[in-house]
Amino acid sequence: MPVWGAASWIRGGVAQGARGESVWWVAVAGFVEGLVERLRVLRERRRAVILAHNYTLPEVQDVADFVGDSLEMAIRAAETDAEVIVVAGVRFMAEVAKLLNPDRVVLHPEPAAGCPLADYATRRAIEWFRSRYPGAPLLVYVNSTLEAKALGDYLVTSASAVEAARRLAGEGHEVIGLAPDRNLADWVGESLGGAAEVVAVPPEGHCPVHEYLVSEYYVRRAREEHPGARVLVHPEAPRAARRLADYVGSTSQMLRYIGRTDPRGEYVLATEEGLAYRARRLYPEARVYPVSGRTVCIDMKKITLDKIVASLEHLRPRVELPPETAKRARETVVRGLELVGKLPKTLA
Ligand code: 13P
Ligand code: SF4
Repeated sequence: MPVWGAASWIRGGVAQGARGESVWWVAVAGFVEGLVERLRVLRERRRAVILAHNYTLPEVQDVADFVGDSLEMAIRAAETDAEVIVVAGVRFMAEVAKLLNPDRVVLHPEPAAGCPLADYATRRAIEWFRSRYPGAPLLVYVNSTLEAKALGDYLVTSASAVEAARRLAGEGHEVIGLAPDRNLADWVGESLGGAAEVVAVPPEGHCPVHEYLVSEYYVRRAREEHPGARVLVHPEAPRAARRLADYVGSTSQMLRYIGRTDPRGEYVLATEEGLAYRARRLYPEARVYPVSGRTVCIDMKKITLDKIVASLEHLRPRVELPPETAKRARETVVRGLELVGKLPKTLA
């Protein structure tokens, strides 16, 4: 442990020990206090901004300059004038931040924090779609590889996918591809009500957290445990789980739903459990429950406070992207934001 960490640990520990709290809690609280103080100093010195996803650990959300969904993170990344951008989220989020800020230092505190759903977006799957449906547009979900973004037509997130598909259907496209989440593709198809066929690319792409832990079984059980609660389900969940929802939407859409429906109401959030912490911070009078305690994305939780501090201390690990692939991927991001009218002025 660095010297500053040990010093703060002891200082915080002594202060709290004097108040009669348990030794374990005293030690942890002191350590965290030291990290937060170190982060404050480093953030100023590096002129850095910390962008965190709604699924990150509570202590990470607490120190972030901005907490939001993947679309909001991308837009913030494009708008910030900070010299250093720290992305507290999984790898594709850090890649998008770098795409939009090629001349700035983008740090991803834990490069091993990937997204198993993103890995389904392979070149092979996209080539299959291109040859099977020539001329059909391909939406690429932000949870995807850099290569898929370079090969796709429009970037979408769970907050923008329906709107993007609607506009393309309005332009007369009868078939629209969506890579790589089959449940999101299914939900977009349902939302279009037959205006176009939405093809999942590949047919088997899914997020393990949403597919298995936001299943019909868990949503039904949560409904039984909280009979008065409204149930909000993420579109990455399977159709049988979505059928039980009062509302289907991205993480930020769920938060806005609480705000406009009843900020003092009762809600089950059928998505990764970190969103419940975010919702409670925004709406302290609401009663918010994750669909179960098991809906944990282990990759999101790899981004810890000490790794953020270390990354700012050493200015690494930095995100570096192959220039040609990055250029094409950036064009897909810009086209996607433009399609739904969300292109920030800084990228226009
Ligand atoms: P949102 O875009 O809704 O934040 O979701 C990102 C994600 O990883 C969902 O699992
Ligand atoms: Fe990827 Fe699923 Fe984790 Fe979201 S919750 S980052 S889709 S693995």
